[in-house]
Amino acid sequence: MTKNKHKDKKGPLLDVKKLKTYFYTEEGVVHAVDGVDFHIMPGETLAIVGESGCGKSVTSLSVMQLIGQPGEIIEGEIFFNGENLLAKSEYEMCKVRGNQIAMIFQQPSGCLNPVFDIGYQVAEVLEVHQALGEETGRKRAVEWLSKVGIPDAEKKSSAFPHEISGGQAQRVMIAMMLSNLPDLLIADEPTTALDVTIQAQILELMDKMQDQFGTSILVITHDMGIVAEMADRVAVMYAGQIVEQASVFELFDNSKHPYTTALLASIPILGERKEKLSTIPGSVPNLVDLPPACRFAPRCQVRLEKQMTRCTEEMPPLFNVTDNHIARCWVYEDKK
Ligand SMILES: Nc1ncnc2c1ncn2[C@@H]1O[C@H](COP(=O)(O)OP(=O)(O)OP(=O)(O)O)[C@@H](O)[C@H]1O
Ligand SMILES: [Mg+2]
Repeated sequence: MTKNKHKDKKGPLLDVKKLKTYFYTEEGVVHAVDGVDFHIMPGETLAIVGESGCGKSVTSLSVMQLIGQPGEIIEGEIFFNGENLLAKSEYEMCKVRGNQIAMIFQQPSGCLNPVFDIGYQVAEVLEVHQALGEETGRKRAVEWLSKVGIPDAEKKSSAFPHEISGGQAQRVMIAMMLSNLPDLLIADEPTTALDVTIQAQILELMDKMQDQFGTSILVITHDMGIVAEMADRVAVMYAGQIVEQASVFELFDNSKHPYTTALLASIPILGERKEKLSTIPGSVPNLVDLPPACRFAPRCQVRLEKQMTRCTEEMPPLFNVTDNHIARCWVYEDKK
């Protein structure tokens, strides 16, 4: 699945090291992202998966440095093209955000300005970031709207956001993001709000863009179907930490962490009708009060079956289970 477009480039495009992002709330310190490491190679797609509230969005917002009060990146390094983004000024970050890293949010329509037609909004991005004149900008904007599959783009470009469907708004957003040819596209639950057909079209479009331009993609999703379809590698997050990371094939075929295995068991299998999906009993722990132990231990069947006591006493590190496959579980201790 790896596109290998940029195999001549050796280093990762994005390299996140020991990232910690906390929120200082009245209830206490929320350990939203608590020591996360991952990287993305040029042209590669990494998926981050995990239950609601485990820190996926905060991770991506940290990369963009869009964490507002009461949140703060308290530790870590985020290298992009070899430069530490955390050392950049807000002015420099603005340039990175507009040109090199683009982010597609969950609620696309909220990001479009209701006062301007969609052609104008795409053209504006092009004009600002690529220093195009108004006429060329507008012409290019129509080309991009057509590329993202907006029918009759010329005519539709004078439509206002309220005159287009949710799926089309999402495409306009994608056109705005991709027209700058970013090196990295961050897509946070990019298709949750869309129906299945539109979803598939958007994913296909992102894939095409990747093939054509060698874009790296960080996709955040609950949907294992999207993971299987798009990702080269997968990072599974649980309670602010990465608990498993592997190639998509390895993860689906040979998951190691009990949480991943439970997560995979809870998805419907295509073509197979399941009366009732198995769910993971219990819930994600409160990120304010975290014991210095495995965060999944209270819900872990493997711990119960194997009667492991260490799990509730000590935090497991990430163990190498095989090449390029890591899991945060004491079961794999001897494999370190
Ligand atoms: N502004 C904030 N103030 C306080 N806590 C926050 C804030 N933003 C996020 N959090 C907390 O950080 C944790 C991680 O949130 P995050 O949005 O990253 O979860 P997520 O994995 O993206 O979930 P979902 O799948 O529902 O989008 C949650 O416990 C959340 O309550
Ligand atoms: Mg989220």
